[in-house]
Amino acid sequence: MRHVISSGQYTRQSLEEIFELADKIVNKPEKYSKSLDGKVVSIMFYEPSTRTRLSFESAVQRLGGTIISTENAKVYSSAAKGETLEDTIKVISGYCDAIVIRHNEDDSSERASKVSSVPIINAGAGKKEHPTQSLLDLYTIKQQKGRLDNIKLAVLGDLLYGRTIHSLVKLISLYDNISVYGLSKKEFALPQKYIDYMNERNVSYTICSSFDEIPSDVDVLYHTRTQYERFDGNTGREEFIINKEVLNKFSKETILLHPLPRNEEISTDVDEDPRALFFKQAHNGVPVRMAILLQCLDKSF
Ligand code: CP
Repeated sequence: MRHVISSGQYTRQSLEEIFELADKIVNKPEKYSKSLDGKVVSIMFYEPSTRTRLSFESAVQRLGGTIISTENAKVYSSAAKGETLEDTIKVISGYCDAIVIRHNEDDSSERASKVSSVPIINAGAGKKEHPTQSLLDLYTIKQQKGRLDNIKLAVLGDLLYGRTIHSLVKLISLYDNISVYGLSKKEFALPQKYIDYMNERNVSYTICSSFDEIPSDVDVLYHTRTQYERFDGNTGREEFIINKEVLNKFSKETILLHPLPRNEEISTDVDEDPRALFFKQAHNGVPVRMAILLQCLDKSF
């Protein structure tokens, strides 16, 4: 069974298959409009979402499938009555053909996959991983740069709790000649285990303390918001804000990505800059998630 639990499960070959399928879907959507005919996908979200939930729902419907869902499962599912995640998954896996789950606990998707009779797709698990986001991030980088080897990537913002960052650094580590630069407040530094993961795969990681320490010809600036929902206390505003002046320190070829939603870390004065691609990135979520669903349900083309 094809679960999607972690970015670490992918190979260059399996990513290429997903990206090729996403491209085919973009080029000929009508060919895929009945691919999930008769299939039911359960969308279980225990945490808020705009992009992931709605792009998955759009993806299922564009493939001709149907959805059953709870958008606030903590309150509106029987989790509110004390039902365990395991019991919930055992029950709903009898109602559907795949389960897309977002949950506040780091190991939620692994736990779900152990008891599910249908594929589990991790749509964000605590502070740990958000693999389908990193797939669409990489798809966007490939689309814009035409390559995934020889990439200089800067990751910014909340590198401690940012699950999109954790999944992205794992995926980019599959490629050759990758340099990653990290810029964050000290208290939001990237955990050592992700630095070790990269170093073990010959990816260099450089901790930066200012924008000036990121090479001006960096290929990708990937910013993230502080995940306030994951800790108590007030850490103050983001120190490293990308505005027009900051973006103009970088090359005309540098692209600016963000998984969204954003807070103050990217100011709106860059939105019209052709390098600011975060809305295009969000839109790529639909074809990439269509491809993921087709793979999970053994319907590759
Ligand atoms: N990027 C992302 O996961 O956004 P949502 O929280 O809106 O799904």
